Amino acid sequence: MIQGKKIFITGGAGFIANTLIGNLIGDNQIVAYDNFHRDTLTGSAFGKHPNLTIVRGDVLDPDLLTKSMEGADIVVHAAAIAGIDTVVKDPVKTMRVNMLGTANALEAARINGMSERFIDFSTSEVFGSKAYRVSEEQETVSGSVGEARWVYAVSKLAGEHLAHAYFKQYGLRTVTVRPFNVYGPGQTGEGAMQTFIQRALNNETIYITGDGSQIRAWCYVDDFVEALMLCLECPEAVGHSFNIGNARAVITILGLAQTVCRVLGSKSEIVFRPPLSADIAVRIPSVEKADEVLGFKAKVDLEEGVARTAEYFRQLPA
Ligand SMILES: NC(=O)c1ccc[n+]([C@@H]2O[C@H](COP(=O)([O-])OP(=O)(O)OC[C@H]3O[C@@H](n4cnc5c(N)ncnc54)[C@H](O)[C@@H]3O)[C@@H](O)[C@H]2O)c1
Repeated sequence: MIQGKKIFITGGAGFIANTLIGNLIGDNQIVAYDNFHRDTLTGSAFGKHPNLTIVRGDVLDPDLLTKSMEGADIVVHAAAIAGIDTVVKDPVKTMRVNMLGTANALEAARINGMSERFIDFSTSEVFGSKAYRVSEEQETVSGSVGEARWVYAVSKLAGEHLAHAYFKQYGLRTVTVRPFNVYGPGQTGEGAMQTFIQRALNNETIYITGDGSQIRAWCYVDDFVEALMLCLECPEAVGHSFNIGNARAVITILGLAQTVCRVLGSKSEIVFRPPLSADIAVRIPSVEKADEVLGFKAKVDLEEGVARTAEYFRQLPA
């Protein structure tokens, strides 16, 4: 149980942060630091909570970041440029925000003497284009230079190495998480799951990039945030990286579109489009380390997660 702490969250206006804030805000002081490139927070149930302080700031502004972090017991560094379309359109910004932003956040935590936990967000993309039941010990892979998609993985991997370096060299209590396709209420951006659900709810055409044979494992956000809570609480987590996902909720992208339509009773047509960039054929985690060290097991199956996410989008004001 985390109580009476000051918790500083970069990317605090984002999707995953929003569910995390919901878990922590009753008993802790939260500072959400975000440049509002995306915004789940404003319309959420906690946007005006008395325990929440919002700082509009950029992780590329080290002075404001360091000053705003003063007195934090815990830092959750979730700010990043994510989403394949955004990454491909702006690879320079992606590298700068993800790499330099993480360097700034780690240094700010060190300067402020942050004592309990620094959570770093990496990505499952560090395992490259064929990631079948990948474990943390497996080698990380990056595709060819010049292929914009890999900018995201490389920038996140650099941040992950830096987080481990801060742990080794300065004793900063870092934990890195590698999310595998997290989805759920509050998600924004261009990811397949919320796009499919929103289009299915309106009986609009669902577009699939590629032939739909790409395989993914889908992790509901409540499960993911439970793993984050364990990373904050469990002393053995410090200095480690964890794959966090649901290795049983595995399906092709075409299968996902069909499942969404079936679960929501949608009449959407499914249409295929050429891919924008290199794609990942298969991405399924091994989550044994998270189970052994943290005691984490994902609970929400795909159909239940789709139904709960759709309920959220149904209730959003038009
Ligand atoms: N959702 C997933 O499946 C997934 C998968 C792999 C990794 N991740 C990582 O998890 C973290 C949270 O992801 P999410 O799904 O909540 O994404 P999100 O885009 O909803 O949240 C990221 C937040 O960072 C903020 N941000 C972007 N640039 C910033 C900057 N320069 N300064 C300050 N804030 C900035 C955005 O405004 C946004 O609110 C990210 O680091 C992301 O890369 C997520």
